[in-house]
Amino acid sequence: MFEFIARAREKRTSCKAAAPSPAISAGYSWRVPGGEVARLSQYVLEGGAHVMIAGNTRSGKSTLLHGIMADALKQYAPSEAGLVLLDPKRIELRRYKDLPHTVRYANDEDGAIEALRYVQAVMEARYRELEQAELTADTPKYQGQRLYVVIDELIPLMIGPRKKEFVSLLMLLLSQAGAANIWFIVGTQAPKRSIIPGEIMLYFTLVIGLSMASAVESRCALGVKGCESLPLHGKAIVKYGPELMTASIPNTDLRSVAELVSYWTSASCKVA
Ligand SMILES: Nc1ncnc2c1ncn2[C@@H]1O[C@H](COP(=O)(O)OP(=O)(O)O)[C@@H](O)[C@H]1O
Ligand SMILES: [Mg+2]
Repeated sequence: MFEFIARAREKRTSCKAAAPSPAISAGYSWRVPGGEVARLSQYVLEGGAHVMIAGNTRSGKSTLLHGIMADALKQYAPSEAGLVLLDPKRIELRRYKDLPHTVRYANDEDGAIEALRYVQAVMEARYRELEQAELTADTPKYQGQRLYVVIDELIPLMIGPRKKEFVSLLMLLLSQAGAANIWFIVGTQAPKRSIIPGEIMLYFTLVIGLSMASAVESRCALGVKGCESLPLHGKAIVKYGPELMTASIPNTDLRSVAELVSYWTSASCKVA
């Protein structure tokens, strides 16, 4: 096991040297209270939060997701981060299907439910591992590989014929998966309460609000109005726990994303 990780790290280092270094997300910065500037994707990937990206159609949800995926691919080897991809619109996430990081890819409702069941099994196995660990003063958290469940977009899965099954699995995972180092990153059209219940919204500690049609939609996503006044692209209102801030959202160069994907899928980077 340790040998495997060491080998993966070694591979990663040697691959990194040859990797393209597109500065895709240099502009993903935001000003947190206190004036510190941090990268948005760092919060998304390491913030210990389930993440929702909400906005109108064409507001740049998928584009931002690609920027975040690119940042993940720049920093994590497959042994460090796994991906479960739910792609009900069958367009955006397909490009990541063959990555060595990807453990499940689903593009229909049945596949999505099967993939969430898989995530549940992983979570339960990780909890069993935690149970074996010695009790300390801190609440135990799984320290192994992160698993990101990326969904573009949520709405089709919330209204399909098997929505009850999907929603109850989603709720179960949102409420319990964090301690197993399993995190959701979800794109969704401006979330109406009638489609995405408040109980589900509560689990998203990090919400990135892009351009929306109305103050009502902005309130559903973030608890405050404001997204209705954002330009179509380039700016977001971000809620991280109780804090609100604004962020700049640059465009993502999809050619650079493709370069990162072909880097990881090239034979020389496959970890045995
Ligand atoms: N930050 C941005 N700056 C400039 N153009 C952007 C930005 N984000 C997205 N776009 C453009 O807007 C269009 C719609 O983006 P997309 O990500 O598909 O939106 P959505 O997933 O919300 O429907 C695309 O053509 C994309 O290139
Ligand atoms: Mg989209």
